[in-house]
Order: sequence, then structure tokens, then C-alpha cells
Amino acid sequence: MRKLPSARRAARPYARAVIGAAGAVALCAALTAPAVAAPTGTQTQSATAAAKPAAQQKTRPAAQAEVRLPDGLAKTPPMGFNNWNSTHCRAEFDEDMVKGIADIFVERGLKDAGYEYVNLDDCWALPERDADGKLVPDPVRFPDGIKAVADYVHSKGLKIGIYTSAGTKTCNSAGFPGALGHEESDAMQFAEWGIDYLKYDNCNNQGVDAIQRYTKMRDALQAASETTGRPIVYSICEWGQNKPWEWAADVGHLWRTTGDISDNWSSMLGIMKQNLPLAEYAGPGRWNDPDMLEVGNGGMTDTEYRTHFSMWSIMAAPLLIGSDLRTADEATFEILENTDVIAVDQDPLGKQGAVVTSEGGRWVVSKEMADGSRAVALFNESNAPQRISTTAEAVGLPAAEGYRLRDLWQHADYNTGGEISASVPAHGTVLYRVWPGDGAGSYPPAAEFGVDSAPYVEAGGEAEVTTTFRNTGITPANNVGVALDAPAGWQVETGSPTTAKKVAPGGELTTTWQLTAPADAATGRQEFPLTADYAAPSGQAVSLTSAGTAYVVASPPAGTTYASDWEWLDAGNGWGPVERDTSVGEQQAGDGKPLTIGGETFARGLGVHAASDIGFYAGRECETFDARVGLDDESGNNGSVSFEVWADGAKVADSGVLTSDEPAQPLSADIGDAQTVRLVVTDGGDGVDYDHADWADARFTC
Ligand code: GLA
Repeated sequence: MRKLPSARRAARPYARAVIGAAGAVALCAALTAPAVAAPTGTQTQSATAAAKPAAQQKTRPAAQAEVRLPDGLAKTPPMGFNNWNSTHCRAEFDEDMVKGIADIFVERGLKDAGYEYVNLDDCWALPERDADGKLVPDPVRFPDGIKAVADYVHSKGLKIGIYTSAGTKTCNSAGFPGALGHEESDAMQFAEWGIDYLKYDNCNNQGVDAIQRYTKMRDALQAASETTGRPIVYSICEWGQNKPWEWAADVGHLWRTTGDISDNWSSMLGIMKQNLPLAEYAGPGRWNDPDMLEVGNGGMTDTEYRTHFSMWSIMAAPLLIGSDLRTADEATFEILENTDVIAVDQDPLGKQGAVVTSEGGRWVVSKEMADGSRAVALFNESNAPQRISTTAEAVGLPAAEGYRLRDLWQHADYNTGGEISASVPAHGTVLYRVWPGDGAGSYPPAAEFGVDSAPYVEAGGEAEVTTTFRNTGITPANNVGVALDAPAGWQVETGSPTTAKKVAPGGELTTTWQLTAPADAATGRQEFPLTADYAAPSGQAVSLTSAGTAYVVASPPAGTTYASDWEWLDAGNGWGPVERDTSVGEQQAGDGKPLTIGGETFARGLGVHAASDIGFYAGRECETFDARVGLDDESGNNGSVSFEVWADGAKVADSGVLTSDEPAQPLSADIGDAQTVRLVVTDGGDGVDYDHADWADARFTC
């Protein structure tokens, strides 16, 4: 099945495969997701993201900035739960789940942390309305009806949300009823059930103007609220198709800015990049919605989920938990329950954080807080640890002799003279909150500790890395000791000092380490923990932890060999995994079809989906890369992409934008004596919908 862009989806009913009448199990997740993703994490690419520095962002006229619904709802971004990301339409979405989540909200302290709404997504209704045109809850999922579940959720001091579409049917192919033409009746039914929140989707909209459709439901909800006395938060879900940030501030309380998120890095990153530039449009009662959280669903690492949660918070996004908390692990709860981070999201000033800089995959995003402090995210988009740095001045803080710097994941306070920096692991985010003055000197000095490089080492071989401990505070760091922990089987030696009696403000302790990989080391990425211990002048002890990375690599095969026979260092892909010798197909590994460009099929090559980025180790032993590239015929008559070859951070070949009507194009690159080669596919400037792309006949000559 092909990935349909949201524009197409809106115009015609879905073709999702479903099993069973009541169970309505969605088989084809592909079709549930309007495609989203922007270029992935190469250091070289990311600077092209659409974000402008905070200072350059144009500001709306003051009057427009005040536009919002007069009901005073959603003064801070809504927080709660929605079942969609964990269940889609599967049978476990039922009354027990909704009640179970409400129970956990109370028992685990999530309610106290601010989570309030327990929201039902698609598939709660029967496909047919009753004889009076009323919606009928699915009796298998909700045997006691929606009102009973709402009463239960309310009895816990929580609120409940529901879903329908601003179309004739919802997005699921089983064809559940939409509210187009039934706005007053459906809104009234929701209000009478006790519904506090409506997510209003975009499928099957019959081409009716979006502003008209969404305004009609706004008025219906207002009327129903007045009759029943129940205020209803109104969440517009038209996937950003009609730029709702420009017109929806007095229509709804929040609006989706993008297509659907899915539980992988590329999807989350792409959505983040689409939502970041919209900062100026958000405010109390009027929020950009980059879709619900995937934290805990298993498709990303905990580091990546912390980035997801940090960035959604600094973007003042709604925090709707999308994992089944009944089976969630402790790491998931630890992320979702971080009240320091939640406070950034829920700050009453209601500003969305703005991008300060984004060079080389090093993102600095700053959010003005009601108390005059700033939340500052240092986000590393790239695949290796990087030092990310900014200043109090650059994030808009007034001049001061010292600043209090709180690390919101470590829950620890430091002093700084204005430098805000950290060594950030690959795909990680360090989230700080910074206050000017505030008795800064009484906290221990801030410090950064990290490695200068992510070396490539063959099994049994040696690599050298340098660590730097830097005092970025305004008081000395005493009794400094640094350590690099060897992974099992590795040897670590150092000839340079690992301790210093005192590191003055601005001073450094650099240490060079020799790493020897075991003779039987498996190829792949290897992380090694870094620790720096020091003491403040007051004697207070500080322990900073970080991580370095090494890649265990094998010498590349000699002669001319197919890239699909090579191992890769890492691979990012916008839809499912990269496939060897087939197209990308759908989201599962191995579900591609023969690589086909313009009717020509290829036995060998790589099938990808924009934005895609695959890294190879060439070990300075290769000369050329050759391929025939193009959009796979799987894309239909849609989409556009560009193919790029990067050698050690320099672009050495670029196909230009290719569309689906073009035959396979030859692409050759001289890769000189590059240590690494990256094969990158970008979206051709028109978003990633349909962008199944083939590196056909891809070969290295070494
Ligand atoms: C659309 C929405 C999703 C979800 C599904 C339900 O794709 O964007 O968030 O509600 O429909 O079918």
C-alpha cells in the first residue's frame, strides 16, 4: 500500500484494511499517517531547516496576538492521554483502558503533575447512527456507553475527551460517522455525555472549506456548552493543511500543525522542524499542536524520548501521553513525570520557544518564562556527541554577574557567568532553566565534560580521544577527577592527568585516552560512559555524567561491490527501515517490492524514503560511488526528492530535484580518501509525502 498525502486523503474515503465489524483492527498503519518528516540528522543538512533565529522572527501585530476564544479555556497547553498512538483501532481500546488510565493518573501522581484529559480517539462509535441520527458507542468497547465512562473519569477529578471528523466519516476505513452536517446534534450529544474536549479531524471532508467546517463546529460546541454548562476544549486536527495558525486562534484552542507522528526518530524530528518556526502564533488559549507523544511506545531510545519530551515542552505543545500506561516501564514514567520539564511547557506566559541557532545539527531553542527566566534547550540532532553552546545574552536574558543554571533532567543547580553549554550526546537534549542573579554564586560552578570526536576503530585496533572538562561557572571547581569507562573487553590508557586540584572559571582539564578494541569486537556503535567529579568552594560535591561514542568498523570490501552488501554505520529513514535490494515498501522490515524507476527494475540497490541518511565507513580506501537514482514507481505519479553523496562532511554529488516522471538518473561521486560516506535523500522541497526513493545499482569502488 502506498502512502497517501493528507490532501488526497481528505478528498476521498480511506482504504484502510480492517478486520471484524466491532473490533475494527487497522492493518495498514501507513494509511493512518499523513506523511511528515524533514531532512534527518546529518550535521551538514540540518542547518537548512526552516527555523529563523529568534531575533529575526517577524512578530504579529499586537491586536492579532491577543486573538483567542473568549471562554478562557486551555490557558496552558492541554495535558493528558489519548489512546491513538498506542492502540490505533485495536480491540484493547475500550472502557477498561480509559478507566485504567484515569486510575493511573491518580495513583501514580500524574494528575498532580498536571495531566488532566483522558481522550478517546477514532473507533469508539458504531458505523451507523441510530434512527434519530444520534451517534452510537460501540457496545463491545464501551458496554456502559460514553456517559458512564465520562462519569467515572470525572469521579477521579479528571476530564474526558472524544474524537470525530469534520467530514462525512472519520479517518478509519470502517467508516465511522463524521460530524459534517450533524454539528449541532453531535456537539449536543457530546456535551450531554459530559465531554470536556473534542478532537476534530479532517478526513472525508467533501472538499468543503476548512474554515467553514471548523467554525461551524466551534459555534455548535459553544451553543452546546451554553445549554449544558459544560465548557469544551476544541482541538482542530486538519494537519496544518490550511495554515490554521493564521486563522484558527478564535476558532479552536489548539490546531495540529503537521501530519501524524509515528514512533520513530525521523518522524518526530521532521514534525519538530515543521513546528519550531511557528512560535509566534502560539499563546494562552491558542496552541500549535505537533501531535501527541510517542514516549514509551518503543520505537525510540530513552535519550530520544527525552528529546521528544523536552522539545515538545519548550514548544509549549500539548502533552498528550500516547503510550498505554498500564504496561509502561519506569523509564517512561520518569520522563513523563518530570515536573521541572512540565513547568516549562505549562508556563503561564504561554510563549512557544524560538530557535536561536541551528548550525551543524546543534540546536539552541529558548523560551521566555513568566518569572523572567529562560528555558534553554541544547538539542543535538547529529549522530555523534557535540558541544552545544550559547549565552545568557543570546537567549534574551539581561546582563548580570552570575546566573543560576538548572539542569532540568538532572534536577541540579549551578552558577554561570553567562555561558550556557554542554556536551550533548547524539540525539540528546540538555534542557536548562536560567535565572539572572538569584544568588548564583551559592551554587556549584557549571561545567561541561565531553569528547572531541567519535573515532572509527577496527577490531583489535586503537583509537585516541581527548576529553575536556571545562569550568563554565564563576567559582572554582576543586578536586576535579575525570573518568572514561571502558566497555567490556576494551582497554583504556591515559598518559595525561585525570585530576586537577583546582580548575578556575574558564579553565580546562584535557585528557587524552587510548582505546583498544578487543580483537573480537563486533562492528557497530559503542558508547562509553564519562564521569567528572568535582567540588564547589562550599564543599558541595558534583558528579557530571556524559557519554562518548566509538564506531567499530571493518575495512571496506576491495573492488567494486554493491552498497546493499555493505554494513552501515547508522541509517535514518522517513518511512520504515532502509531496505536492501528492494523498495522501502511499508513500515515493516522486508516488506518492499523490486526496485523500479520509470518502469526499469533493478536487482540491487537500497530502497529508502525521504528524509533518509545512511552512513558508510570507507576507511580512506575507496575511490568512487556510482548509482542510478530516482523515485520508485511505488510513489505513483507523486513526490519529489534529491539524492546527495557526502564524503567526510563535504557534498560531492547532488542529483538535483527528481520527480516521478523521470527515468533513473546516473549519479557518480569521487569520494577521494574519505573516511565516511553518507547517502542522503531530501524531500525535494515539497514535503516527504510519497517519497519512496531508490539508490539503484549503488556501488562503491575501493
Ligand atoms: C488521523 C489523525 C490521527 C488519528 C487518526 C484516527 O490520521 O490525524 O491523529 O486521529 O486520524 O483515524
